Amino acid sequence: MRQKIVAGNWKMHKSLEESQALITEIRGLVRDEYRGDGKVVIVPTFLALPSAARLVEGTEIEIGAQNAHYEDQGAFTGEISVSMLKAVGVTNVIIGHSERRQYFGENNALLAAKAKSVVRHGLKVIFCVGETLEQRESKQYFRVIEEQISQGLFGLDRKEFANVVIAYEPVWAIGTGLTATPEQAQEIHAYIRKIVSAQYNDEIANETSILYGGSVKPENATSIFMQPDIDGGLIGGAALKARDFIDIVKAMR
Ligand code: 13P
Repeated sequence: MRQKIVAGNWKMHKSLEESQALITEIRGLVRDEYRGDGKVVIVPTFLALPSAARLVEGTEIEIGAQNAHYEDQGAFTGEISVSMLKAVGVTNVIIGHSERRQYFGENNALLAAKAKSVVRHGLKVIFCVGETLEQRESKQYFRVIEEQISQGLFGLDRKEFANVVIAYEPVWAIGTGLTATPEQAQEIHAYIRKIVSAQYNDEIANETSILYGGSVKPENATSIFMQPDIDGGLIGGAALKARDFIDIVKAMR
C-alpha cells in the first residue's frame, strides 16, 4: 500500500543506552504531536533492535534494521539473518544503502538476494538507490538508477514487490548538507515510478512508496514531501535529534 513514511536511519551512532533514551523521547513526541496517518520507522544499530522493538510495542512506530544476510542461518561470521531480525520484532530492513555499496562492496546481485530474503519473510525492504556526483554531472543518473532497480528488485514477483519501499538517495546529498531540489528529486521519483510500472503495472507503481533521502531537515522537509511522487523520507543526521526528527515526521501530510 502506498503510504507516507518517515524512517530514521541511525547508521553507526548511539550506544544501547543512548538508543533507548532517544527512542523513548521520540515515542513521547510522536504520541503528543503527530496526528497524521503516515508511518514512522526507527532504524538503530543491530545491538539496539530487541529493546527498540519492546519500547515501541503498542505504538504505531515500527523498527527497522540497516542490513541483513540473505541466508537464514549458516557459517557467515559477523552476519545477521532476516529471520533473526523478524524474531525480535523488526518489520523493515534497509538494503542497498550507498554506504553499504561504497564501503562494503555490495553489488546489485548481492542486494537482489538480500531484498528477496527480506520480502520472502514478509518484512518490508527499504531499497536504496542513487547516483554519485560524477554520475550526475556526466548525466548518467537515469541509467544508474534504472540499473540499480532492475538488477536489485525486478527479480521479485508482483506479490513480493508489494513489500518494497524504494528510497532515492543521491550519494552527493548524503551527509553533505547539499539537498536535491524538490524538482530534481521529483524528476527521479517520477522516473522510478515509470520503470516500476513498465516492469509490473500502473497499479503496482502507484501503490509503491518512494522516499527521498539526503540532508533532509525540518527546514526543507515540507517542500520535498509536497512533490507528487515523493512519499516521505529516509533521514540520517537529523534523525539523531528527537526534535528535528519529529518536526520532519510532522511534515508528512
Ligand atoms: P543524511 O540525512 O545525514 O544526509 O543521511 C541520509 C541517509 O543516508 C539516510 O539513509
